[in-house]
Amino acid sequence: MKRIHTFMAVCLLLVCLAPAGSAYGLPRIRILATGGTIAGVGASSTGSAYKPGQLGVDQLLAAVPEIKEVAEVTGEQVFTIASQDMTVADWLQLARRVNELLARDDVDGIVLTHGTDTMEETAYFLNLTVKSDKPVVLTGAMRPATSLSADGPLNLFDAVVTAGAEESAGRGVLVVLNGTVSGARDVMKTHTLDVETFRSPNTGALGYVSDAKVHYRMDGEKLHTAHSVFDVTGLTELPRVGIVYGYAGAEPALVEALVQKGYAGIVHAGVGNGNIAADVFPALIQARNKGVQIVRSSRIPSGPSTLNAEVDDEANRFIAALDLSPQKARILLMLALTQTNDWKEIQRLFEEY
Ligand code: SIN
Repeated sequence: MKRIHTFMAVCLLLVCLAPAGSAYGLPRIRILATGGTIAGVGASSTGSAYKPGQLGVDQLLAAVPEIKEVAEVTGEQVFTIASQDMTVADWLQLARRVNELLARDDVDGIVLTHGTDTMEETAYFLNLTVKSDKPVVLTGAMRPATSLSADGPLNLFDAVVTAGAEESAGRGVLVVLNGTVSGARDVMKTHTLDVETFRSPNTGALGYVSDAKVHYRMDGEKLHTAHSVFDVTGLTELPRVGIVYGYAGAEPALVEALVQKGYAGIVHAGVGNGNIAADVFPALIQARNKGVQIVRSSRIPSGPSTLNAEVDDEANRFIAALDLSPQKARILLMLALTQTNDWKEIQRLFEEY
C-alpha cells in the first residue's frame, strides 16, 4: 500500500514538473498547410518539371515520422496553392486563423508550410499582424516531395523543432529552411533553384537548427507580433499599394496607371539608393499631390534607401523604405494606411517595423 502511494506521489510530481505542453511534455504544434513545392509532385525524381501543392498535410506529416519524437502535431489544410497566387485576402485569413489558434491553451506554436516564392511576404505580413509571443515558423522546399534528395522533410522537421522550442518565443515570425533560422523582416529568397536560397543580406540569420535543437546567435531589432500596432481583425481588404520597378529609360506610364486605378500607395523600387529616373519623378510628385503615398525603396537586395539622400524626401513628402525590400515596403505601407495617411507618421512606422 505504502509503495502504491509513493508511486502515485512520484507520478503526480512528474506531471506537475512537466513543461507546458501535451500529456507527454511535448510541445503541441499545429501545422497549417498552404501548398507550394514542399507539397509538389514531379513526373520523375530527377527532372525539374513538377506541380506544386499536390500533397495534403497528412501526407507531408506521414513522410516525417520522426516529428512525433519532438512534438505532438496536428495538421490543417488551409490552402492548396502555389505561393505566387497568395493574395491579401489569403493573408488576412491566415492572420485570423493563426491568432485564433495561438489564443488557445492547447496550441504552443504554429508551423506554416508555404511556397518559397512569396514566403518572405507572408512571413512579414504575419510578423506585423500576429498578436502573440508564441512561435510561428514558415517552411517550404526548393525541391518537390518526389525529388531525389527532397529538402522538404528535413525542413518540416526543423521547423517543428523551432516552433516547439521555448527559446523561439517572442522572436517574431521565423522562416526555417536548409538548417537556417531567419527573421521574417530581413529574410529574402535569393536564388531561383538552390536549397540555400533564404538569406538576410542586411543582418544575417538569427540562428540555425542542428540535431533537433535550435541555436540562436542574435535577436531582431524591430517591433513585431505582440508589440505591433497593426490589428487586422475584422478587415476583409487593405488599401491598395502597387510597386513600380525602376530601370534606365523608365517612363511614367506605370505610375499614371496606378493613380488612375485608384491605388492608395506606390512603392517605387528605384535604382541604387532608391533613385528615380527624371521622366518618372514628376508623375510621382503628381501622384503625391493627389494624396497617393509614395515610398522610395531600392531594387538592390542589400543596404538602405536612406532618407533625404539624392532625393529630398522631406520636400517631396516621400517615405524612405530604409532597408525594407520593395515587396515588404508594400506590406508595411498597406498596413500603415489602415492607421494613418500622414506621411511623417508613416515614415516613423518604417523606422520602427
Ligand atoms: C511556390 O512558391 O509555391 C512554388 C515554389 C516553391 O515552393 O519553392
